[in-house]
Amino acid sequence: MKAGVKVFAPATVANVAVGFDILGFALEKPGDEIIARFSDTPGLRIAKITGAQGKLPLDINKNTAGFAALKLLEHLGEEGRGIELEIHKKMPFGSGLGSSAASAAGAVMAVNELLRRPLEKRALLPFAVLGEQVADGAYHADNVAPSLIGGMVLIRDNETLDVHRLPIPAGIHATVVYPHVEILTRDARGVLSDMVSLRQCIQQNGNMAGLLVGLYQSDLELISRSLNDVIIEPQRAGLIPHFQKVKEAALKAGALGCSISGAGPSIFALCANSLIAEEVGLAMKRIFENAGIESDLFVSPVNQEGAVKL
Ligand code: HSE
Repeated sequence: MKAGVKVFAPATVANVAVGFDILGFALEKPGDEIIARFSDTPGLRIAKITGAQGKLPLDINKNTAGFAALKLLEHLGEEGRGIELEIHKKMPFGSGLGSSAASAAGAVMAVNELLRRPLEKRALLPFAVLGEQVADGAYHADNVAPSLIGGMVLIRDNETLDVHRLPIPAGIHATVVYPHVEILTRDARGVLSDMVSLRQCIQQNGNMAGLLVGLYQSDLELISRSLNDVIIEPQRAGLIPHFQKVKEAALKAGALGCSISGAGPSIFALCANSLIAEEVGLAMKRIFENAGIESDLFVSPVNQEGAVKL
């Protein structure tokens, strides 16, 4: 077998309540594993996909990981190089955990490592975003950027990929509960109105700015007051069964804030420490249990590394 590299790329929480398409953070688990290895057959191909129940295409032009890797190889003038990808999905898709973004980020990282790192990690971002665009048709980096570079990331501008890492106060943990219902990002974007009132705009800007100040000053109360989405959450909450009850349970159990993770159906909460995060997670999960809906719980600090070679 030819030489290869394996990369882990983490799940992410996009939007973080107040930063639709411009804010996201990485989790330590779950995540996808991507293997890239040289092959005698010229060109890029996807040799294997596991964990996707046959739902993901092997066609590189239709697969987020394949397309991201192809765009990187074209940029490097290496598209004729024989390379095989293996995609091992270790998280659900259509879950709001940035599954397609993790595959895209993992693929560009794996190919870059295989080619002995011609580009810096950050320079891989545009190719990974193009890969994710295959999945939902939109060009936004709020999942891909944190999955690739780690941390809590602000994307000041998606077109130019003006991305910035934000500080995370010590102790902060994220709780994410994934109820087993599928929502496609494309559909969850489709329900959104283009119209935002001036009042909503003012409130959301205030909350976004408040969250940034809270993160920089480690002011948990300010973070808590700021995690309030007045634009997107009200429009999408109805897509997620029992969303309001789950959110109430999270806040009652001590979460700093709670909202939809990405396009849903996963729901995230930010918590002051791991103990609260565990308790909040159990309280959220209980609501789904009582409603007869299976769910998975992930509790994690913010992952500071992003995609890593294993
Ligand atoms: N910002 C995106 C959305 C994240 O909420 O639609 C999901 O890809």
